[in-house]
Amino acid sequence: MSFAATLTRDAGLVQARLDAALSGMADEPVIHAMRYAVQGGKRLRGFMVLESARMLGIAESASVSAATAVEALHAYSLIHDDMPCMDNDDLRRGLPTVHKKWDEATAVLAGDALQTLAFELLTPQDGSVSPAVQAACVGLLARASGYQGMAGGQAIDLASVGHRLTEAQLRQMHRLKTGALLLCSVQMGAACGAAVSATAHAALQQFGEAMGLAFQVVDDILDVTADSATLGKTAGKDAAADKPTYVALMGLAPAQRLADELAAQAAQALQDTGLPTERLAALRALCDMVVQRTH
Ligand code: IPE
Ligand code: IPE
Ligand code: MG
Ligand code: MG
Ligand code: MG
Repeated sequence: MSFAATLTRDAGLVQARLDAALSGMADEPVIHAMRYAVQGGKRLRGFMVLESARMLGIAESASVSAATAVEALHAYSLIHDDMPCMDNDDLRRGLPTVHKKWDEATAVLAGDALQTLAFELLTPQDGSVSPAVQAACVGLLARASGYQGMAGGQAIDLASVGHRLTEAQLRQMHRLKTGALLLCSVQMGAACGAAVSATAHAALQQFGEAMGLAFQVVDDILDVTADSATLGKTAGKDAAADKPTYVALMGLAPAQRLADELAAQAAQALQDTGLPTERLAALRALCDMVVQRTH
């Protein structure tokens, strides 16, 4: 199956779960805002959970809850990231941001509720996920989202506006605000089945770290090179807001070279898992996609 077809199939699985989780609820603005915020997007985090699991021979029925959960958590992070107190963005996934379509209070609450929905999704009550896997995934997602992960990185991002960071500081900011959730997606995929060898575990960790950083370096690049219609979010916002980015730090061409190097490192890490090559295809294709993407 092609990368595009696999991504579409995985996105469909996640969307169906999100729609089911948010159906039959009260006719309230916050519920409408939650449903709105989980539409669209590339679904790369869900894909990384499902495909990491599949690569390790873990059935999709065991990993789809974690794939759905990480996309709910990510949707929450986007709602809050766009708010006036953070990046003050009007456009997300080609549509008005949640605080624009509703109001700031609804955006705060829809984000809060999507964050906790993620943990509900990780702990299904139907016996489909063992208590041990539930506990492992809850711990992984909580750590990746909180002060040692996404929220901590977002705090550094906001505190760094107008400052010139060193490469090490910028790397740490990107590792936390974006890399942590991408790495967590791989870790949760692996946690959905039996323990893997120490070699495979270390290689997967390296894959997730390289992919996570590459992803945000490319996000920085696209803010400069792409237009708002293609991105589905306002282009040129980073420079306008004087955000520290890899493009601001090193310039466009070196940032592109760094993204290529990180993608190559991610691809090498997949080889280093020692798994048969045919099992690696979906995540191997992601290494190319992450640097070739246009949005
Ligand atoms: C955007 O993430 C925010 C970052 C962490 C860079 P994505 O580019 O994955 O956004 P969607 O989910 O596809 O909209
Ligand atoms: C990552 O950074 C945001 C999150 C952790 C949600 P950005 O602020 O660059 O993401 P975009 O460009 O708005 O999607
Ligand atoms: Mg931001
Ligand atoms: Mg932003
Ligand atoms: Mg950005």
